Amino acid sequence: MNYRDAFKSKLNQLVAENRYRHFVELERIVGAHPQAVWNAPDGKRDVTVWCSNDYIGMGHHPDVIAALQDAAGQHGTGAGGTRNISGTSASIVALEQELASLHNKERALVLTSGYVANEASISALAGLLNDCIVFSDAMNHASIISGIRHARVEKAIFRHNDVAHLESLLASQPLDRPKIIIFESVYSMDGDISPIADIIDLAKRYNALTYLDEVHAVGMYGTDGGGIAQMLGLDNDIDIIQGTLGKAFGTIGGYIAADDVICDAVRSYGSGFIFSTALPPAIASTALASVRHIRAHDKPRNQQKIQAEKLKAALRATQIEFLDGPTHIVPVMIGDAATCTRVCRLLLDDYNIYVQPINYPTVAKGTERLRLTPGPFHADAMIAHLVNALENAISRATAESDQARQPGLSG
Ligand SMILES: Cc1ncc(COP(=O)(O)O)c(C=O)c1O
Repeated sequence: MNYRDAFKSKLNQLVAENRYRHFVELERIVGAHPQAVWNAPDGKRDVTVWCSNDYIGMGHHPDVIAALQDAAGQHGTGAGGTRNISGTSASIVALEQELASLHNKERALVLTSGYVANEASISALAGLLNDCIVFSDAMNHASIISGIRHARVEKAIFRHNDVAHLESLLASQPLDRPKIIIFESVYSMDGDISPIADIIDLAKRYNALTYLDEVHAVGMYGTDGGGIAQMLGLDNDIDIIQGTLGKAFGTIGGYIAADDVICDAVRSYGSGFIFSTALPPAIASTALASVRHIRAHDKPRNQQKIQAEKLKAALRATQIEFLDGPTHIVPVMIGDAATCTRVCRLLLDDYNIYVQPINYPTVAKGTERLRLTPGPFHADAMIAHLVNALENAISRATAESDQARQPGLSG
């Protein structure tokens, strides 16, 4: 067996299908966000980043940076172990209290990423309930799918945001069978919002727990950045809210907020929580500073909405096809992996704009797209430049793709 060849042939398959991921080396510079320096083959270049999940720039906020510097000076870099061994610090406990209060819950539990939070919590909770069945939205994130898989329970997938389909699946199960409905508030690839109130209503009628991933909403929606459930006054009606510290909060880590017993169950049974080094105290203090800042200041999230609306208005005035949704995520639809990759290459090379192509398997084939994430620091002139560049790059890339498809003309 030639192992190298075996792996190489799988990699070549990705290249052939235009799915091989090329990383672009960027240096984010404090004070310049959303601009960054691209280490291009021919030297350094300033580019504008249009796809960052540091959605409101908290990763570069002076208070947050100062918190990291102070806490690292005081507590060092690592956690020193799992939470059980030596990783429970005053900083992580304070962060959990803040997150519990943010989401109006009894308790929160911090894990090392949003991915780990989903995988560990879902696998533990579903696995602990005898004969549990999980109802999962068809567009749920890979970490949710992995958590369900590791729980080894039955699952029923409901069509994306389709409440009637969910109800038909729930109704086909005995009322007293343990059930968990798992869904997201803001879906990161389409930028749409789930029907949270309707799903809560179904959960009550069919005796199910609700687990809501608010990764793309925390820090940006609701009275003090608690997410869409908070914005709708529904946070109390969701059993488990899951979030990340790595996107709008600008740091790293993930969490759940729920009642005391649910958090204790994940703390006591969640493999990805128990057997992994804790979030370092310095990071916990940094995240705490960010959460507190966001709760006290609504300007960044308000400005984000204004800039997102300006971008959508500018796109509406063009022929560019995009999903005109209610959130800060603005998907520009390209519909083909090769063209999508070409558009991004042209934007970077010729317009100093960085956006990553989103291709299969992140989205379905035929729905390849650019996922734009306008934020409070994208100035009006940047928006105008982007829209103009998109018009040019999309028409050039489409023409190149058409030419490449002509038999005998491709090189
Ligand atoms: C819906 C959703 N949940 C969870 C995660 C994982 O969060 P993290 O990046 O903190 O691991 C992501 C990441 O993009 C996500 O999109």
